[in-house]
Amino acid sequence: MELIDTHAHIDMLEGYSEFYIAQAAENNVSKIIVPAIEADAYPAIIELSEKFKNVYFELGLFPSEAEKWNADYPVMIKELSNHPKCVGIGEIGLDYYWDKTFVDRQKEVFIEQIKLANELNLPITIHDREAHEDVLSILDEYNKTSQVVFHCFSGDKTFMEKVISRGYYIAIGGIVTFKKADQLKEVAINVPLDRLMLETDSPYLAPVPYRGKENQPSYVIYVAKEIAKLKNINVEDVAEMTTKNAERVFKI
Ligand code: NI
Repeated sequence: MELIDTHAHIDMLEGYSEFYIAQAAENNVSKIIVPAIEADAYPAIIELSEKFKNVYFELGLFPSEAEKWNADYPVMIKELSNHPKCVGIGEIGLDYYWDKTFVDRQKEVFIEQIKLANELNLPITIHDREAHEDVLSILDEYNKTSQVVFHCFSGDKTFMEKVISRGYYIAIGGIVTFKKADQLKEVAINVPLDRLMLETDSPYLAPVPYRGKENQPSYVIYVAKEIAKLKNINVEDVAEMTTKNAERVFKI
C-alpha cells in the first residue's frame, strides 16, 4: 500500500524533519507535498525538497497574509517554480474566518495567483475557510487551465458536488475522524474516489487517536482508514485511487 500526504507543513513541525519523514516512509507514505504560506518560508521548504527524495513543495501566499503581496512576489514565484520539485501554487484562496477586514485584497491576490498558476501550467491548492461561494465564483471567472484541489475541504455535500462538477478535487484530512464531523463524513461517503486526495495538514488537525497532539504525515493512514470505513471499501482501494489522483495532478 502506498499513500501520499498532499498537504503537510513539515517545515512547521517541532523537532527534526528527518524523524517525521522516516516515520512516514515506515508507514507507507511514499510522497509528501509541502505547501507554502509566504516567501519567508520558501528557502526552508525548498531545502527540505532537496534533502529528501519524496518531498515536494508548492509556492504561494496564504490569504491571511495577502497584505504582503507586492510586485516582487510573482517574479520570485516564477523564478523558483523552475525548481524540479515545485509541483503547484498553494496554498492560496480566501479566509473569512481569521480576518474579514481586507477581503478585497485577499480576492485580488487570489486572482493574481490563479493567473500565475495558469501561466506556469501548475495545479492550484485552495485554502477556503468560510468563503466557499466566493472561492468558486473567482475560480469560475479566472481559472482557465489549472487543476484545482480544495485542501482540508470544509463544505457540505452540495458544495462538494459543485466542486467536482468543475473537474476539481477534494482533499480530506484528520477532521473526518472526529466524532462530530457529520458533514465531512457525508462528503467522504459521497465523493467519487477519482476526485479524492488525502492529507494531514500537519502539524494541525491530527486525526483520532492523536487528536489534539502534533500531527505528522505518517498519520495520513488514519484518514485513509476512516474514509474506507465510511465508504465500506478496502483501505487499499482508497490508497490506490488517492495516490493515483495525486500523482496525476501534481505530476509526481
Ligand atoms: Ni495548510
